[in-house]
Amino acid sequence: MATYVLGLSALYHDAAAALLRDGDLVAAAQEERFTRVKFDHRLPWHAVDYCLRTAGIAARELDYVVFYEKPLVKFERILLGHLATYPRSWRVFREAMIAWFGEKLWVKTLLQQHLGVPADRILFVEHHDSHAASAMYCSPFHEAAVLTLDGVGEWTTTALGRATAAWDGRGRNAIALEEELHFPHSLGLLYSAFTAWLGFKVNSGEYKVMGMAPYGEPRYLDRVERVARLAEALARAMGLDAGTVEEIAMAARLHDVGKIAVPDAVLGKPGRLTPEEHRLIRRHAEAGYQILQSAPLPEGVKRAVLHSHERWDGRGYPQGLAGEAIPVGARVLAVADAYEAMTHDRPYRRAPTPAEARARIAAGAGAQFDPAVVEAFGRIIDAFDREAAEARPPQPAATLRDAVSLAALERRATPARVR
Ligand SMILES: [Fe+2]
Ligand SMILES: [Fe+2]
Repeated sequence: MATYVLGLSALYHDAAAALLRDGDLVAAAQEERFTRVKFDHRLPWHAVDYCLRTAGIAARELDYVVFYEKPLVKFERILLGHLATYPRSWRVFREAMIAWFGEKLWVKTLLQQHLGVPADRILFVEHHDSHAASAMYCSPFHEAAVLTLDGVGEWTTTALGRATAAWDGRGRNAIALEEELHFPHSLGLLYSAFTAWLGFKVNSGEYKVMGMAPYGEPRYLDRVERVARLAEALARAMGLDAGTVEEIAMAARLHDVGKIAVPDAVLGKPGRLTPEEHRLIRRHAEAGYQILQSAPLPEGVKRAVLHSHERWDGRGYPQGLAGEAIPVGARVLAVADAYEAMTHDRPYRRAPTPAEARARIAAGAGAQFDPAVVEAFGRIIDAFDREAAEARPPQPAATLRDAVSLAALERRATPARVR
């Protein structure tokens, strides 16, 4: 007797069904082919009918029906995720709950009712096992390493493991995912965060970002590199511990990532900004912080980015923190960023001389800047500028890997190990 397994994916992206007989594909189809509804995500009953008809069997002859993820585990993530940001997110939360209670939580019951298959024949696999299977079993390999990356499954966002396939009766079909990264750390969500802040629709406009990315130019790289070197030198001069120095250098390289949320016309505008344009510029601090939420970076790095425009006297943004309530990384960044901005040309003015710039930093102690950072600045800036002038101009980092020093991230990130 042959073994029939029906696989289903539904209620999120385009729904689809596939039918296997003794491990061989008999039929597979997307629901939208039958309903003519683009991206139709409803349970794919038409596609199921098609698969059964092709195989010439009835639904009760199915040995197993397998759903592509575990709805309850995903439900838990959504619940906890929303509770963490409650009450800011209560509206989204309510909508998510309605969607979940409507259908997703009852997948098993719906499948049982519609197909007439007993409950113990309905199985749920993990989201990333499904991704791994669709990658491996559509490939020509008998044996392969598998890497899956998406926005988020139940909790997993990235998984790494091994798989084998038995195409010709040799070996066996097996997948073992051994390492995982968990929500909220996610390359997919990082991409989505950029997409959202660029003004495109999430889960849809990512392809536009992907398509346009090669046309970007590393316009801010030199400036970011200068800020990072000065910030690191200041942190060292203040006697901060090695871990904090490393975090500050990393934060300096990422501190203006939120500027993607600000239109180019505003960033490069000569002359005075309108209040609305000021508002747009100011939102880059929070945008940067939110974008970095999906990256497995130390919290100190993210907080330094968020608060790098606070002022010692409390008149900065985004939260108006004052004095030592501002994270030390942000206080260091503020001085490094201001000095770099003053000593390099901006579209709207000529740079002041280094002496003028130093005088302005000194004058800002206790008002805009932390006096302790300004004191360290006074001690090192002569030597720092001399060395910078002698050194060859900074080479653009070849890849993001160089730019954010992935090695450092790898050491500090704590990917959860499961299984
Ligand atoms: Fe996925
Ligand atoms: Fe900034």
